[in-house]
Amino acid sequence: SEFDTILLDRRGRVGVVTLNRPKALNALDSQLMREVVAAVEELDADPGIGAILLTGSDRAFAAGADIKEMQPKTFAEVHAEDLFSQWDRFSSARTPIVAAVAGYALGGGCELAMLCDFIIAADTAKFGQPEITLGVIPGIGGSQRLTRAVGKAKAMDMCLTGRTMDVNEAERAGLVSRIVPAAALLDEALKVATTIAEMSLPIAMMAKEAVNRSFETTLAEGVKFERRVFHSTFATADQKEGMAAFVEKRSPHFTNS
Ligand code: HXC
Repeated sequence: SEFDTILLDRRGRVGVVTLNRPKALNALDSQLMREVVAAVEELDADPGIGAILLTGSDRAFAAGADIKEMQPKTFAEVHAEDLFSQWDRFSSARTPIVAAVAGYALGGGCELAMLCDFIIAADTAKFGQPEITLGVIPGIGGSQRLTRAVGKAKAMDMCLTGRTMDVNEAERAGLVSRIVPAAALLDEALKVATTIAEMSLPIAMMAKEAVNRSFETTLAEGVKFERRVFHSTFATADQKEGMAAFVEKRSPHFTNS
């Protein structure tokens, strides 16, 4: 494989990216970050891929940015390299991305899960932003995305105390969309990603873009954006096929056109 710190596997129309630095609990060092972004860009550009699944190991989705690699860096260095700016490329992927999280999702690991479109969590998952205990703050969007996901009270609590949330609290708070038994996590997440990948890809991209727009604009502008994109779905063959299939009481055969 072209990668050392991740595994990239194509399962039908689903691209599965597995973080694979088990000895460091999948801590995000610069190589792993480069490889994850490269793999997602490769899958996003591949018309044979309709959804991406990002996962880690049973013990850890990822225990954060690599503290040992960051420790000696100066302000001038992190500023000059614009440390963590590469994640902007991950968030501009248009293909839906599902995170399957078991074990620790801490710091940059929690942030990486939140960079995905939604999170399916094993009952063993633990989420936290412990950066403050290291004398830093979240740097891959945690202070912003966690606040949008769970609201100010819990986001402040997590970012100021560094405590972790178990999976039940995370689901109640809206951070994860579903909880599944740890042993079933990968199968369930793959089923969900496959369901998405069987939809029309351009329409799935439009749905993702519309939901994401809600975080960037006012309600009135967002509703207008949605309506325009909704209208444009009628320009696709897949809208004709999807509605014809319903009327004819059969399954649709989308052609991604
Ligand atoms: C580098 C890490 C690491 C990390 C774990 N390891 N997390 N290495 N960076 N973030 C390494 C350990 O050093 C150890 O290596 C091995 O993984 C196993 O970890 P243990 O600590 O022995 O395991 P355990 O006792 O089970 O504890 C698990 C843990 C703990 C609770 C997850 O590892 C932990 O607290 N990790 C750090 C979590 C954290 O603070 N994350 C936020 C990082 S800052 P050796 O070689 O010693 O066996 C961050 C900032 C993002 O993400 C942006 C702002 C800067």
